Amino acid sequence: MEDRRFPMARAEDRPFDPAPELTRRAEEDPVSRVKLWDGGTPWLITRYEDVRTVLADPRVSVDATCPAFPHTNAVSKARDTTMKTLMQMDAPEHTVQRRLLSPEFTIEKMAALRPRIQRIVDDLIDGMLDGPQPVDLVAAFALPVPTQVICELLGVPYADRGFFQGVAHTLVMDEPDPGKAVAASEDLNGYLEQLVVRKNAEPGEDLLSTLAVEQFRTGAMNPREIATLGQLLLVAGHDTTASMIALGTAVLLANPDQLDLVRDGDPARVAGAVEELLRYLSITHTEARRVAREDLEIGGRLVRAGEGIVAVKSTANRDPAAFPDPDSVDVRREARHHVAFGHGRHVCLGAPLARVELQVVYGTLFRRIPTLKSAIPLEELKFDENAVFYTVRELPVTW
Ligand code: HEM
Repeated sequence: MEDRRFPMARAEDRPFDPAPELTRRAEEDPVSRVKLWDGGTPWLITRYEDVRTVLADPRVSVDATCPAFPHTNAVSKARDTTMKTLMQMDAPEHTVQRRLLSPEFTIEKMAALRPRIQRIVDDLIDGMLDGPQPVDLVAAFALPVPTQVICELLGVPYADRGFFQGVAHTLVMDEPDPGKAVAASEDLNGYLEQLVVRKNAEPGEDLLSTLAVEQFRTGAMNPREIATLGQLLLVAGHDTTASMIALGTAVLLANPDQLDLVRDGDPARVAGAVEELLRYLSITHTEARRVAREDLEIGGRLVRAGEGIVAVKSTANRDPAAFPDPDSVDVRREARHHVAFGHGRHVCLGAPLARVELQVVYGTLFRRIPTLKSAIPLEELKFDENAVFYTVRELPVTW
């Protein structure tokens, strides 16, 4: 077995590619064991077909309290074993919660948000155009867009973003003291619980109000349970999309021929670019973690009941059997079958929302600021490797 620890670092000179060790395994040893920080040795599943098969298999569990569940660090272990969200639930518990939320995140409902998202994007671009240059695209644009959108959707005051973004940051970092992350998450839950109680008394037109009225008032759920759901949506709903906005922009700036193809904002081309950038970047670099409930055969190897599994979306999305010439960015490619949003019953609930946000963003930013460029050489960008999501810390731009 290789003595390499997961998650592995991406190469400095190829910051948008999967970690070289993962690519090597996908080519030479596609189902193989890996070491974790705590001595765990889950299986890495690296090829597209195997990743999809494993994520769709009902004999595979997301129960983070199983002894061999592959936690990527102490914070991830503390977080996932103390607060059980949709992501840590198996059927039938998962099915019940997912049924509750799915109607709120349908393609139709998210498409209806497009005009409001367009307004948010346009206002932020107006602000950038009126302000000094260079400007950090992450702070001025990439983070505010999804944060404002998820705040409005949930009914969380945008003015409180400093607080919940701070908590979200603590939850995804590799801190030596996991107690800090658990305490931060408790604080956020307390805040959301109070909000749910207030929404019950005075409901608005938002998701937390709907849950307060339909679930809390009827006795189906208590404020704490609704707060836990709210926390998942709030945290999962802004950092991920922010990272895709910033990294996707960096990739397009690094590939001017591709940027030329999307600059005029043609909706079909932009929608294709969104899928291709999701595929190319695979930002959730702690990948999809599971545990086998029964013995399984995956890619010709026997994975025994109770063993941990890491389904590697980043290499699956670069598998030449699924995507010809996978290491090149090609916004004209048909890439929608990528697994950047996962696959199977835990496939990203917010994917329809993220898609609309990214389509509006990429379709507007380069059309309104056609000369947008990085203010520093792209090789000098600093990427964040400790986070659950891969991200660029700052993206200073001018035009
Ligand atoms: C699940 C990625 C945006 C809410 C997931 C999973 C992935 C993912 C890979 C599956 C994890 C697994 O199988 O273990 C992304 C990416 C996003 C994004 C790349 C942005 C580009 C969002 C947004 C929301 C959201 C905007 C909220 C509105 C969720 C939820 C789950 C989830 C609730 C858990 C679903 C379940 O377990 O049934 N996401 N996500 N995500 N995502 Fe997203």
